[in-house]
Parts: sequence; C-alpha cells; structure tokens
Amino acid sequence: MSNSSQKKYKRTTITAALPYANGPIHIGHLAGVYIPADIYARYLRQKGEEVIYICGSDEHGVPITIKARKEGKTPQQVVDKYHDLIKKSFEEFGIAFDHYSRTSARIHHETASAFFKTLYDKGVLVEKESEQYYDEENKQFLADRYITGTCPHCGYEQAYGDQCENCGTSLSPNELINPKSVLSGNPPVKKNTRHWYLPLDHYEPMLRKWILEGHKHDWKPNVYGQCKSWIDQGLLPRAVTRDLDWGVKLPLEGFDGKVLYVWFDAPIGYISSTREWAEATGRDWEKYWKSPDTKLVHFIGKDNIVFHCIIFPTMLHTEGSYILPDNVPSNEFLNLEGNKISTSRNWAVWLHEYLKEFPGKQDVLRYVLCAAAPETKDNDFTWKDFQARNNNELLAVFGNFVNRTLVLTHKYFDGRVPAKGQITGKDAQTLEQLAQFPETIGKSLEHYRFREALSGLMNLARVGNRYLTEEEPWKLFKTDPERVQTILNVCLQVCASLAVLSEPFLPHTSGKLLKMLGMKPCKWHDGGRSNLLESGHAINKPELLFERIEEDAIQAQIEKLRVTLNNNSAGEAAKPLKETITFDDFTKLDLRTATILEAEKVPKTKKLLKLLVDTGVDKRTVVAGIAEHFNCDKLPGRKAVILANLAPRKIKGIESHGMLLMAENHDGALTFIAAEENFDNGSSIS
Ligand code: MF3
Ligand code: ZN
Repeated sequence: MSNSSQKKYKRTTITAALPYANGPIHIGHLAGVYIPADIYARYLRQKGEEVIYICGSDEHGVPITIKARKEGKTPQQVVDKYHDLIKKSFEEFGIAFDHYSRTSARIHHETASAFFKTLYDKGVLVEKESEQYYDEENKQFLADRYITGTCPHCGYEQAYGDQCENCGTSLSPNELINPKSVLSGNPPVKKNTRHWYLPLDHYEPMLRKWILEGHKHDWKPNVYGQCKSWIDQGLLPRAVTRDLDWGVKLPLEGFDGKVLYVWFDAPIGYISSTREWAEATGRDWEKYWKSPDTKLVHFIGKDNIVFHCIIFPTMLHTEGSYILPDNVPSNEFLNLEGNKISTSRNWAVWLHEYLKEFPGKQDVLRYVLCAAAPETKDNDFTWKDFQARNNNELLAVFGNFVNRTLVLTHKYFDGRVPAKGQITGKDAQTLEQLAQFPETIGKSLEHYRFREALSGLMNLARVGNRYLTEEEPWKLFKTDPERVQTILNVCLQVCASLAVLSEPFLPHTSGKLLKMLGMKPCKWHDGGRSNLLESGHAINKPELLFERIEEDAIQAQIEKLRVTLNNNSAGEAAKPLKETITFDDFTKLDLRTATILEAEKVPKTKKLLKLLVDTGVDKRTVVAGIAEHFNCDKLPGRKAVILANLAPRKIKGIESHGMLLMAENHDGALTFIAAEENFDNGSSIS
C-alpha cells in the first residue's frame, strides 16, 4: 500500500457520484463532479487508454420515500421520473458515460445483497439490538425523518427526528418532546430491533496506513484533511441496515422489513453499473474492479468524502477481492449568485432548463463551470460571469481566431490549406509553443487540476489569436501572397490543435471544428503536431463556434431567480408564536406614529443609526440598528411607528428614548411599518 500516484496502471475505472433520483441535476452537481470526471475520461480515451466512466441513479433512501408520500406516488414512480430526466439531460449535455445505470435495477439488487452476504458470512459485520421508535398502527419502525415533535432547544413543534428546521440544531429522535409518527400522527412506542454494523474502528490501522501515510501527497488537501480529522476523532461502528421497506432487501431469513442502508448499497452501484455494461458489451467486469493494474478514481462532492474514502474502502477491503481507489478528487461547493444552492428552495440553475433555454450552448456552460469550478474553495456562479466568459473569452478569443483564419483561407486560397514557404523566427516559435500544449494540458489533467488545464487550452487559442493579429496577413496579400500562405498555414495548424485538444472540455465545439476543418478525430498527442493539416487539404465553410450572449438573456435568468427568492420568502415558515399576554399587558405599550427628521451613523458601529424623531408629542433621539439596511440620506421624512414609553437606554453613549418598530423577515431584511403619508404624528396605535 505505497503511495500509488507514480504507479503504472493498465486501465482506469472512473466513477462519478450517483445522483439521487429525487430531483433534477443542477450546476453545482455539474461543476463539482460530472464535468471534471467527463473531462478526465475523455482525455484518457483520446490518449488511447483503456478507461470506463461509470455512473447511475441513486434510487433508495428515506428522502425518496418521503417525496413519494408527499406527492401521492410510489417511490418507484418518483425515481422513474427523475432517472429518465437525469439520464436524458446528461446525454444532451455531452456527459459521455460508458454506462448509466440505476440502483433499482435487478443486477444492482443482486450485486449489493451478495456483497452484504459476503461480509456477513465472513463475520465482518457486528450484530446489535437497540430500541427504536415504532408506529403500532402502521406496524413499522420509523426513520428519523418520520418522527416529528417539539424541539427541546427552541420549542418549535414541527421539528424532525434528525433536525429542527427552526433553530437548525441536529437532533436525535429521543430528544424530541411529544414525538409523533408522521405516518399515523400517533405517539410512537419504543421497540427492540436488530441491526448490522460495519466496525470501522477495527480498520483504523489499515485506513491510517493507506490514507494518512500512503496518500498524503497525492490526494487533494481538502480530502486528506477530512479523512485525517475523521480518523483522529476515532471511528465508530456504522449501521449498514435500516428498518424500511424501500431499498435492497436483506439477504437473511426472517428479517422482512429490513433493507441495506442507502449509503451501503449506493457505492456498490458503481460495481453493478460496470457489470451491467460488461454484460451488454460482452466484456469482463472484474478486471475493472479487482485487478491491481486498474486505477480506480472516484469523482465526488465534498459532502461525500467520508463515504468514499473511509466507509466504501473499508467495505471493499473487508470483502477482500477488490482494489481500493487510487484517488478521490473531491470539489468544494458552488454557490449561485452569492447564495448556497438549494433544491428545496429552488435556488439553482437546473440542467434540463438550461438545455431548453440555451439550445446548442452546452459548451458555454461546460466552459464556465470548469473555469469557475470550486476546486480548492467554494466558488460562486453568476450570470454576469457566464456572459462575460462567453463574450470575452470563448467568442472574442477562441471563436474569433478560428473564424478569421477560416474566412481568410476561403478568401485567399479557395478553402485549401496553403503550403508553408520560408519560415520566420516568429513562425518557428509559434509552432514550438504549439508542440508543448498536449503535454502541459495533459499534466494538469493528470493532477486533477481542471481549471489550470482549461486555461492551458485558452492559452493556445491566445497564441493563435495574437500571432494572426500581429502578422496581419490581410495587409500583405497584395504584395506578398507567399508570406500569407505561411501565416495561414501556421494559423490553420493552431486551429487543428484546438479542435483536438478542446475535445475533453468542449466536445460539441471540437466536433464542429473538426467538421469545418475536414478532419477526423485524432489522438491527444496529435494536437501538438505542426503538420496536422497537409497543404492542399480542403476545408469546409466556416460556421460560428460561439455567439454573443446578449443582456436580455442574462436579465431573464436574473429575473427568474428574483421570482424564486420572492416565492421563497412568501412560503417561508414564520417563527412560532410567543406566549399569550393579556389585554392589560398590551395596553401598557404606548405606540405612536412618528416622522424621522434626521439620521446619522453612530461612529465606530456597523449597525446603529442615531435618529431624531417627531412623535407628535415631542422631538426625541432614538437609536436604531438599521444602518446596514437604509441609507441615512433617504430617511428624513419617513413615517414610522415607535414604542414611545420604553425606559431610556444608553446605547454607545447615546441615550435612546423609545424604539423604532420594523418588520424583519427570515432573511434578515427589514421594512418600515408606518401610517399613510399625511397622517398626524402622535396618533396612538391600539
Ligand atoms: N446520491 C449521493 C449524493 O448525491 C451520492 C451517492 S455516491 C455513491 O450525495 F457512491 F453512493 F453512489
Ligand atoms: Zn429548534
């Protein structure tokens, strides 16, 4: 188990995290997992290596059963719908899996239950009884999400068994006050149940040696760091079975109503998907998972690290016949316009919608998501950046260079590649630079540095664009047509290289460019040749590779997100009510309409404003924490409501006489509550 980064392998098995089939794919998934894995797979294929790229839908787990209940469907109907949608949009986007399967497939149930059975028969798994909540009416044990009750921390009555969504605390079902079953509404009872555990603690020495010693230098620091912190905290046995009726049934007699835990069966999905592919294509699946000559690489998002670096490898190791991953390149998260992407809040750019709204522009999204991938830290996707990268990079550099070269070749040489004549220093230098690119870009890719690799590709386009701009063949054609031949020959070689080397990143563009140049797909290293296009070779008519993206298309997307934001705040669960007060309590409050006369910032504070307010009774100073929300200049003249009989308080040395009343929503946004424009100050509110 030495550091295997230098190891020579014969083939590569690439997996991309199986997406949950309870929602569509969004840009966060693409940037984090599917685009980098796709680039890697395409690159290795183009190098002529033996490689498989495997994925499928993750169709088990409690969230899917909950979604089904909510929508009045069966879990199978839910996963059918999303599996089809996901599979289709991946295809259209150009994610070139060798196989895309699903965990409800027969072959997966067989593979996963046999895997469990092997661990069980070998005595790897530890059996334990524990008490769990049970719904007597529905005769079933309740997953954490199927129990609601009162949060012991904030008193919110709709907290779930695993989390209170009001105060955000993680909970265990035992902590809930007055627990109720979501299924029947009855209080659940405690009942004994038996489960099987993977004793991760026993394998700590193996994991330490393999990861902490073996992969210190070749795994990404974020991945290595998470593993180290898990291992150093001490690993605990993990239950790998659940009481649920949706999933892979336990292959043991007398345990109806039990299934494999979704995180046990899902990664085995990579193996089942490989088997399904092998059966369909007449290949041997085992060498892709069991041969020490195979390099296994898992592409995942950072929330999947522990499962792919610790739990699944322990499963593979204890089973005994499998290899372990050579690397687990994991990305951080992508945000959208400054906020966390969220499926439930619909804060996302959905792939299937993008494909409809930007037809033919797959490569623009591939480009932007690779260029802005959250490789080493969380990153932000904005529509403005999307537009700028398309217009200023893809179009202005890549597209413009190719288009000028092809148009000039048609104009001057009837669409035939002109022969090189006398070579200048500049020509030689350009061709020498060109020769380096396959190596440079390839090296970045082999180290999973996809942003760097993509910027390498763009550098090639820049080399071509600069050369063409500086040589100005359009000024020379009348006086020195032979020189123009050489210049365009060099430019056409750069175009041909771009066609070859862009394939992993921008496969649609590469395909178009190959066609325009009348070329067949080439091996990766042909992308460095200076004579990829022979003189006399006929090229086809140029088409535009990229189009300008106009402001209105971007504004439409921004507007769409604004609508989502509004809908979300409208549907947001309001805070729970405070305890009841009497009418007498209420009448103690002296609430008045008022007008703000002056406003200034309180020095050395971020939030505080000192206001002079006309209450109709007097003019007084009130300090309010609203500086982050309102501009001082805009406040004088504004109507407000104040609590006028609040005892004076000193705030940052200023005596505040009363309190300005505002409404605050869940996002922390503030709004005034006020009487109409010309209503008298000092009117009392009751
Ligand atoms: N469905 C999981 C997620 O989206 C990933 C499962 S990866 C697998 O986070 F290895 F378990 F398949
Ligand atoms: Zn709470």
